[in-house]
Parts: sequence; structure tokens; C-alpha cells
Amino acid sequence: MPAMSRLPGLALLLAGAVSAGPGVGPVVIIPGDGSNQLEARLNKPSTVSSLCSKKSDWYRLWLSTTQLLVGTRCWADNIRLLYDEEHDVLTNNLGVETRVPDFGGTSSFEELDPAIPAHASAAFRKMVVAMVAAGHTRNVTLRGAPYDFRYAPPSPVGAKFQADLKTLVEQTATASERRVTLVSHSMGCLQALYFLNSQTQAWKDQFVEKWVPLAGPFAGSAVEMKLHASGNNMGLPVDPLIIREEQRSYETNFWLAPVPRWFGGRVLVSTPSRNYTAGDYDAFFDDVGFPAGKKLMRRVAGLTSEVAAPGVDVVCMYGLGVDTPDHFVYGPGGFDKQPQVVNGDGDGTVNDHSLRLCERWAEPGAQSRSARVVKFSKVSHSDMLTDDAVLQALLSELGLAWHGAEEASLVV
Ligand SMILES: *[C@@H]1O[C@H](CO)[C@@H](O)[C@H](O)[C@H]1NC(C)=O
Ligand SMILES: *[C@@H]1O[C@H](CO)[C@@H](O)[C@H](O)[C@H]1NC(C)=O
Repeated sequence: MPAMSRLPGLALLLAGAVSAGPGVGPVVIIPGDGSNQLEARLNKPSTVSSLCSKKSDWYRLWLSTTQLLVGTRCWADNIRLLYDEEHDVLTNNLGVETRVPDFGGTSSFEELDPAIPAHASAAFRKMVVAMVAAGHTRNVTLRGAPYDFRYAPPSPVGAKFQADLKTLVEQTATASERRVTLVSHSMGCLQALYFLNSQTQAWKDQFVEKWVPLAGPFAGSAVEMKLHASGNNMGLPVDPLIIREEQRSYETNFWLAPVPRWFGGRVLVSTPSRNYTAGDYDAFFDDVGFPAGKKLMRRVAGLTSEVAAPGVDVVCMYGLGVDTPDHFVYGPGGFDKQPQVVNGDGDGTVNDHSLRLCERWAEPGAQSRSARVVKFSKVSHSDMLTDDAVLQALLSELGLAWHGAEEASLVV
């Protein structure tokens, strides 16, 4: 399960009146970890239980709430990655093919599990509806860059996403004869930062108008330590130990781990026998019984850890003032027992100092392009996609009129 997934909420909200704005600037949205659908097709040599299917046609692997809750072991075995440590290669599990629906469109991240009625698993739906109400056209001026959120750029699947994103930005800019604004959320901000840092300044000048990162975990997040140690069920009625191995297998759950350079000497995990900081990954992964984590950590360590200035105009938005795990205390029962959680500041998922790293880009001399920060009080990580104040600020940055958001009594 993704660490920062957008779990089903109850967002029965729709934007209000439609008014076409002439000449809206094109936008590409890059969603966060687990914030878009992923499909699978099975032809497996074996399964973890006789209750699991070996064969299937294409179906929605993420998110199928029913499968996740009812067939957790089957689901976890289908979505996990395999790590060949000797060759440092990550792949899907044997006999599992995966694909991301509607690259270029927004449908796969507007809602995650369309089987849940009333759009209750809505992720970007409200944002997209508000943008369409303000004059955008899906698939034309408003594009989406969903991706397989398990893989990071060092894997072929992750590298292909980066290449496809470049093509999408170029095509969208060319088709509308205007530069593209990138809007990203959560891990999508790491994808976008890596992407921008990988392009030449000339390319960015030609194709990118600005970047609006929402709730970017620029230095990673402490919650990843608990995920690797004892699993993270995101509050769902699932035993975290059943999904721990699956969660440990995602390349992105290492990319999202606290970056030593920025987390410094902060104690993230304590046991009766020692404390672990982000500088202690080798000991940490040995001690939690997952030594392959050491190599997986090194695989992604250099992607965005410098938090280098993106070289485009940036308006960085995040929320603070929400209790956010920053320290996990394990007892004598070891890492198979869930820890006591000590909270600090942040957006409930990402720690304050990680969200705030984008402030560096606004310091004099950090980059020749403009950089601003817009903070929101008590807006949680996932609410950055749905909060009216955030959406109003976002639309304003996009040069769009806000028509308000009215609650639909019943969305069919
Ligand atoms: C966007 O394009 C995709 C792929 O061509 C298509 O499946 C989808 O229906 C389109 N969405 C809209 C709103 O036109
Ligand atoms: C862990 O650090 C705390 C202070 O942050 C200290 O009181 C405690 O003794 C340390 N525990 C161990 C086992 O070293």
C-alpha cells in the first residue's frame, strides 16, 4: 500500500457555475503516491493462498477497496515488487503485468475506486471540476500524468514515466501555443523536482510557465520509518504486518524516506537498546530484519536529496499545524509490535521541516526565477487537494476565476 495514499474520504463536493475563460494556460497535474489507479493482469505460476486467483484479465489493482480489505494477502502479493538484490533490479511479481490507465488524461486520479458510490474515493476530482468550471477542457488544456507509484526513476518503469512526462509537456505546450504549468501533490512533487532538475534551462524556459507543488515531502517523511519497521495500514482495518513486505518492496517507499542531509540527528525510531536517525539506515534495516533495504536506500538516495532549485517560477503550497508522526518508540516486543507514536508539526503525513524546504528556493540567489511560499493552517496532507482556501489560491495562481464550491446534495 502506498505510504501517502489518498484514502477514501467523503468529498461530495462539486464546483459551481461554469464560465468559459478565454485562453486558459495549459496545466499538467502530477498526482501523489497511490493517488492514481493502477491496473493488473494475472497469469501467476503460484499464489500465496488457494483463495487467490492465478489468472485474470485486466482489472483495477489500485484502488479496489474490496480486494484490499477482503483479500489482503492476495492483493499484497499481486502489487508487491520483487527485488533481485544481486543485480539491483526491481520487477513486478512473477506473472503480474501492470499498466496505468489514461496517461495524459485526468480520469485515473479524479477518483481511485469508482466502485465506491458517490465519488467517495475522490482524489483530484474536486480540483479538476473547479478547473473545468473555470474554463479548462479535460484532455486539451488540462492534462494528467499518472504513473506507477511503486517505481522510482532508477527503474525502467520510472524512467519511462519521466520520458513520457517530457513528451506530454511538449505536446501540451505545442498544441495550445502556451507554456505549461505543472501542479503536483505529495510524491508527485519529488517526481516533478527530479524532472525539472533533469531538463536544460533552455527547455524549461521554452515549455514551463510555472510549478505549483502542493505538500511536497522534499526531505522525505518520518512515517516511512514505521512503514519499513512494522508496516503502515493508513488507519484501515488491515494488519500492518500483512502488508509490511509489500510496502517494503516499493522503490518509492525508499525515495520518500527521511533524507539524512536534512533530518540530521533527529531520532526517528527508538527501541530499548538504541536510537536510530536518518544517518543509521544500515543498522536500521539490519535490525528490522530487512537487510536488502540498505541497497534499496542507496539506489534512490541521490534522486532529489539535494532539493536543488527547480529553475522555473515556483509557488510552493503546504499546510502546517496538524499532528504529524516524527518519532516511533518500540518496546521490548520488537518491530512486530506497533510503536508508540510521538507527534510533531506538519500536515499529518509530512513533517514541517520537510514541507518547508522549498522556502530555500525563495532565498536571495537560490534561483534566477521567482519562488514564493503559501502556507495554510491546519490543512492536512490529503486535504491540500480539496480545501477551498487551497483551491482558491491554486486557481488564482493559474489565472483562473474561482466560482466557489457548492456541496452537492447527492452526486449520482
Ligand atoms: C481523454 O482521452 C482518453 C484517451 O483518448 C479518453 O479515453 C477519455 O475519454 C478522454 N476524456 C475526455 C473527458 O474527453
Ligand atoms: C535515545 O535518546 C534519548 C534522548 O533522545 C535518550 O534519553 C535515550 O537514553 C536513548 N536511548 C538509547 C537506548 O540510547
